[in-house]
Amino acid sequence: MSIKYKFPKNFWWGSAASATQMEGAGREDDKGLSIWDLWYEKEPNRFFQGISSEVASDFYHRYKEDIKLMKEIGHNSFRFSISWSRLIPDGTGRINEKAVEFYNNVINELIKNNIEPFVTLYHFDMPLEMQYKGGWESREVVDAYGEYAKTCFKLFGDRVKVWITHNEPIVPVEGGYLHDFHYPNIVDFKRGIQVGFNTMVSHCKAVKEFKSLNIQNGKIGVVLNLTPSYPRSSNIADLEAANIADLIYNRSFLEPVVKGEYPKELIQLFKENDLLPCVENGDKELIKNNLVDFLGVNYYMPRRVKAKENMPNPNAPMMPETFFDNYEMPGRKMNVYRGWEIYEKGIYDIMINLKNNYGNIECYVSENGMGVENEERFIKDGIIDDSYRIDFVKEHLKWLHKSIQEGCNVKGYHMWTFIDSWSWSNAYKNRYGFVQLDLKTQKRTLKKSAYWIKEVSKNNGF
Ligand code: BG6
Repeated sequence: MSIKYKFPKNFWWGSAASATQMEGAGREDDKGLSIWDLWYEKEPNRFFQGISSEVASDFYHRYKEDIKLMKEIGHNSFRFSISWSRLIPDGTGRINEKAVEFYNNVINELIKNNIEPFVTLYHFDMPLEMQYKGGWESREVVDAYGEYAKTCFKLFGDRVKVWITHNEPIVPVEGGYLHDFHYPNIVDFKRGIQVGFNTMVSHCKAVKEFKSLNIQNGKIGVVLNLTPSYPRSSNIADLEAANIADLIYNRSFLEPVVKGEYPKELIQLFKENDLLPCVENGDKELIKNNLVDFLGVNYYMPRRVKAKENMPNPNAPMMPETFFDNYEMPGRKMNVYRGWEIYEKGIYDIMINLKNNYGNIECYVSENGMGVENEERFIKDGIIDDSYRIDFVKEHLKWLHKSIQEGCNVKGYHMWTFIDSWSWSNAYKNRYGFVQLDLKTQKRTLKKSAYWIKEVSKNNGF
């Protein structure tokens, strides 16, 4: 078989997942609660078919079986997150020895199977006790996160070499403080900006702790969802609108983590609109001196933008969208289930941007994937024929390959996700896995895409 798209040697093939979305054992072995448990208790109707994360895909008990399957389908790396509230049930203080044992087992099992563990410290799951103190609005919580990060480096840093501070730090801002899809369901742009800034400070504290520990061969980065902003047209007003969207949704995190400071234009925009966050002494230096070693890039869809067409209601809460309108491009290709546009070239545009404007920093695709409803209807000869997922990945990989040919510093490709996972308020509505999960029996069955990715990984290309 001839390989047309060959990837660099030691390319990372694998997938990503998160604690809340796969572990289950939500109330076992002394795990503390997180905001997801509280929100579910308060408003179960907010979760698709009323399903909580308490059981998920039961990775807590089935990690051995899952890691075996990962190996079988050619993973050489896997990103998972540590649940802060499992490890430190109150957010600070006492460490849960059962959790230490569990994460040690997972790490050791991965290594035994030649799968490099990539560990995320925070993937949307604020410990409840920390939320009671104000969550990311509170500097006490920022400090607690720094301590938690240090604890993780000390416990697991002898074996885990790739660390990620936060997964998509803009999402808890969007979900929890702007657009009402995460707890605490606050709608307040200014508070959201404070949350974003405090998260940034917490990230830097973790990087600082990491560097001070001098972990051999270790590196630390962050995972950002760098959704490119495309203007509707080259009209100056459309360009300006897309620039603002890019500043707020991408460069707000990208610039401080890679360049050590916020974009001046963003500061200006926030200043003019009385949105600037409180900054404490030493924050600026902390941000300046704690740059990342690499970036994880999550890419699902583009953001299309046009100039504002109607004056916003002066009494409505201010939003990023106060400054631009989203644009539905006629003829766009859609994943109709998730309601997200599919635009494969976006992955190339992101990488070229990182190469040209961010020092060609080392990076990898940390998430890309396609959520589809009712996949059971595609069962053929006992397995789900998800050829649409194979096409989706293939087309993205072609563009990624092109970016590498052109000199982009891309080290790998991780799919979202290994096994159908609990997707926050969408619960199990959209299935993303290489592996099908039977919710009733917890039975795992490889989908067609799993067999396909196995070959891709084996041949280091396709
Ligand atoms: C990313 C997250 O935003 O997208 C994952 O890191 C999430 O946690 C994934 O599951 C897919 O999005 P969703 O909303 O369909 O689950």
